[in-house]
Amino acid sequence: VSAQAVLHEAAPYLDELEQRLETAVERHPGLVAAVGRNAVGAGGKRLRPLLVHLTAPDRELALRAGVAIELAHVATLVHDDLIDGAELRRGRSSAWHEHGARAAKAGGDYLFARAMAELADAGDLEGVEILARACLAIARGEAMQQQQLHDPDTPIDAYLARISLKTGKLFEAACLLGSRDPRLGEFGLALGVAFQIADDILDCVGDTIDTGKIPGADLREGVPTLPLILAARDDEVVREALAGGPKREALVRVAATGALDRSRALALDYARKAREFLRNEPDLEALTHIVIDRER
Ligand code: IPE
Ligand code: IPE
Ligand code: MG
Ligand code: MG
Repeated sequence: VSAQAVLHEAAPYLDELEQRLETAVERHPGLVAAVGRNAVGAGGKRLRPLLVHLTAPDRELALRAGVAIELAHVATLVHDDLIDGAELRRGRSSAWHEHGARAAKAGGDYLFARAMAELADAGDLEGVEILARACLAIARGEAMQQQQLHDPDTPIDAYLARISLKTGKLFEAACLLGSRDPRLGEFGLALGVAFQIADDILDCVGDTIDTGKIPGADLREGVPTLPLILAARDDEVVREALAGGPKREALVRVAATGALDRSRALALDYARKAREFLRNEPDLEALTHIVIDRER
């Protein structure tokens, strides 16, 4: 099954999801909701709802849980950009950059709360628990990232632990919200790790036109991502840059060390690991390829 075929099949679901997202952010109109509306309305790949859709037994559950997980995801982006000092998101001025730090904090909180309320209002307490756990993991992952900042000697295992928490757990939650099946949860976790490694590569080589983000943010902020950790082992300039020194030339040198290819190899390992959890689920299998071979 091709990625296009998966997206084609999901198009009606994704269309209705957009309407439901709009309705959900408008529940309590005001300045804070406006921050949320802008962030949600800026688009994005809607990958987590797509995972819910592909794993859910029925449409209503897929829509409700899809809305909840995308709202929680956008909440993390709003807060993440504040923490990372990122000025661009989804090709637009990020929430804090547009509305200020306080509004971004409140807007992110609003989105988290709306996400939980979507599930709670439907009486889906198990769903609330799945999503709440994932949000807690994200907070722990972001905290771990702060501790790892500017450390070029961050062990690969510590990096993997961090991205499992900050990204993998929400992918896991998407699959669990849809299926309530631990096997698919494990699939989602491995898929999310592969996805984040690809994101970390894109931060080194991606194009703003495609990603909607400004490349080099991780190096600038001193976030030890896999490509940066690997490159720092071989290149003193990258090492110094990651530790907080001058950034000039460093990104070009990352590519020259071969760290991007080695990072891609590990992403492919995780995609393969994700596939091992599947049992004749071709749509999900297609996702294990597109999370890596993507430009946005
Ligand atoms: C961005 O997620 C945050 C990461 C986990 C890397 P996405 O790349 O899914 O962002 P959108 O939703 O498409 O904007
Ligand atoms: C993922 O990491 C952040 C979240 C879990 C919200 P990044 O910091 O790399 O995400 P981007 O690159 O800003 O989207
Ligand atoms: Mg970020
Ligand atoms: Mg990134």
